[in-house]
Amino acid sequence: MQTLSQFLTHQKTDTNLVDLIDTLMVACKEIAIQLREGALAGVLGTTENTNVQGETQKKLDVIANDVLKKVMLDNPLVAGIASEEEDHPVAGNEEGRYLIIFDPLDGSSNIDVNVSVGTIFSILELPKGLTGADEKAYLQTGRAQVASGYVLYGPSAVLTLTTGSGVNMFTLAHTGDFLLTEENVTIPADTKEFSINMSNQRFWEPQMQNYIADLLQGSEGPRGKNYNMRWVASMVAEVHRVLTRGGIFSYPWDNRDPNKPGKLRLMYEGNPMGLLIEQASGKASTCYENILDIEPDHIHQRVSVALGSRNEVTSALEYHAGNE
Ligand code: AHG
Ligand code: MN
Ligand code: MN
Ligand code: MN
Repeated sequence: MQTLSQFLTHQKTDTNLVDLIDTLMVACKEIAIQLREGALAGVLGTTENTNVQGETQKKLDVIANDVLKKVMLDNPLVAGIASEEEDHPVAGNEEGRYLIIFDPLDGSSNIDVNVSVGTIFSILELPKGLTGADEKAYLQTGRAQVASGYVLYGPSAVLTLTTGSGVNMFTLAHTGDFLLTEENVTIPADTKEFSINMSNQRFWEPQMQNYIADLLQGSEGPRGKNYNMRWVASMVAEVHRVLTRGGIFSYPWDNRDPNKPGKLRLMYEGNPMGLLIEQASGKASTCYENILDIEPDHIHQRVSVALGSRNEVTSALEYHAGNE
């Protein structure tokens, strides 16, 4: 079986990028160890802090962020990092070439109930004339990402990675190596599975309400199929399911806070997942435009998300057409 480094080298990936991804995995292995220890290490529960997103931080949000921040900033290739858990970007090496953006722990509301969580990451090149401390340096479209991926901490720890030419999955072995277990992941174009937090239904736009209402009518309704529903409340787990067997995942705009165009964050969640989905022949949209085409104007900006099986996402978009 091929290790992650062997696979990337074989793919002729830039050696600096291989080094960077290896460093990211050093951090993710440390996070995996802390997660596995759970209550034994006293890492469960919440802190008294609120992050810049307005969320109460879990202890493990802080631990995962600190691990990633320290390990990545120690790598001389890193010009700076930006994180869901940091108010502002943090500068790294002045000579560094890359910017690393991460959601240290995704799905952290699941921590205390021992359900799957993950780490999401996005890698950009530092634009000329800017430093890793400049927020502007990070405000690049999703298409500019040189790599993105996540590590799902589930029954096994799985890295899902794209460097811009397909999507591959690597499982963490007891030796500490990530070994190639799924090559050229492709999302089926059609599906009978959807994933959305139904408790927010009354807050959605009528277009999304109509789309989901039609799915719920099953084989008797306009879609002519019986749909199944799943909601883990960890985007990493939902995207992993979509990449593995197809489906549509959405966290749409809702009117609970009209100033926020969705719950999920463009830079930490939308863009890295959007690149993986597109690279696996799926579709990633806000319901009105491709996520990867958005010109970001704020490092913590939110985005509405509908992603997954190409034909199903296209159907969802048809309900929204004409409402731009
Ligand atoms: P995070 O834990 O990084 O803040 O992200 C949580 C996100 C995402 O993982 C998930 O899809 C969604 O929030 C769950 O939201 P609900 O609590 O509304 O189900
Ligand atoms: Mn959070
Ligand atoms: Mn998240
Ligand atoms: Mn998070």
